[in-house]
Amino acid sequence: MNDLALLLTPEGRALLDEVRDTEPAQELAVATRLRREHPAELVSAALGQARLRQRAVAKFGAEDAGRMFFTPNGVEQSTRASVAAYRARRLRELGVASVADLCCGIGGDAVAMARAGIRVLAVDRDPLTAAVARANAEALGLAALIEVREADVTEVDTAGYDAVFVDPARRGGRGRVFDPEAYSPPLSWAVETALKAPRAALKVAPGIPHEVVPDRAEAEWISDGGDVKEAVLWFGTGAPGTVRATLLPGPRTLVGRGLPDPGVRPVGRYLYEPDGAVIRAHLVAEVAEEVGGGLLDPTIAYVTADAPRPTPYASAYEITDHLPFNVKKLKALLREREVGTLTVKKRGSAVEPEELRRKVRPQGPNAATVFLTRVAGAPAMLIGHPSG
Ligand SMILES: C[S@@+](CC[C@H](N)C(=O)[O-])C[C@H]1O[C@@H](n2cnc3c(N)ncnc32)[C@H](O)[C@@H]1O
Repeated sequence: MNDLALLLTPEGRALLDEVRDTEPAQELAVATRLRREHPAELVSAALGQARLRQRAVAKFGAEDAGRMFFTPNGVEQSTRASVAAYRARRLRELGVASVADLCCGIGGDAVAMARAGIRVLAVDRDPLTAAVARANAEALGLAALIEVREADVTEVDTAGYDAVFVDPARRGGRGRVFDPEAYSPPLSWAVETALKAPRAALKVAPGIPHEVVPDRAEAEWISDGGDVKEAVLWFGTGAPGTVRATLLPGPRTLVGRGLPDPGVRPVGRYLYEPDGAVIRAHLVAEVAEEVGGGLLDPTIAYVTADAPRPTPYASAYEITDHLPFNVKKLKALLREREVGTLTVKKRGSAVEPEELRRKVRPQGPNAATVFLTRVAGAPAMLIGHPSG
């Protein structure tokens, strides 16, 4: 019997409950004690699963993570619940009632789609991963909506489904895979499959070059809590060529208006740091227009403006000082202002924030933010604090 099968027995489930909150430091002692009453194999499976569940809390929340089953790769590769729920809602709003989830992994997306009321065929070729996805559908009471099939996705007939969703494996033997053709299955296969379906969503790495986005796709970059998580290529949304940046938890979506690059302008009173999804989606010009600003430098995604105009798509800072890059001057200025808490942000600078903080040794009751960047090509420091 494999580990998962052991854990699904009544004895395995009871043991999983018992070891749920085991701290890593206690594991050895707990294992020794439990092995007196349970098979060693089951004890180590339960402790291993408890550890995976603890790791999964950040993605799935304590309640779901505590009921679900994981494999090490499955936790790593699964979509976090917030992003999966957003995408599932969008599919539902597009009228999708059934979806073929091709490359379902342990079922992160399948669960979210089922919870949005979508019937899911979830396919993965890895036998253990497929079994875990099935266990998760059951554990979360979604088995009636999720059918799990162990198969190669390239051999699955998706006719009859309202949509296909593909989340290819992006990790090879040596870490993350950047070339979309090296995904498993390759992006070209996913696009071909998408074009045959009424609607489709393909999850890709956020670093995907814009040139490889097919003309018929809408491309959406998604961040959660300011961290860019993924890009999605949507098909059949009626908006080919559209570029969007969506910020969770909102959700707030900025839709590209095809603006040309914003011009460079002198440093104003405010600096706007666009969200990573906005930057990856190449929508800095849209944010610049929204705040009535321009760029500090033609190659850097910092926007500067004279007025504070709150926008969800960028963090605003009020700038108090603008100096050429010079550590001694920064140190003197921070001493004068009694700055003890220094946040270092950088774009277009090779300086290591930690090293800078060590050199300037901030001391005092005040806080400040320093931006290490370039202003019209020259290394510069802008000092300020969050606005509003
Ligand atoms: C990134 S994971 C999917 C994660 C999933 N969306 C989630 O949220 O849990 C990709 C999965 O694709 C599967 N896979 C890769 N190539 C496949 C193929 N040709 N057929 C079926 N599954 C495949 C891998 O086994 C892996 O579980």
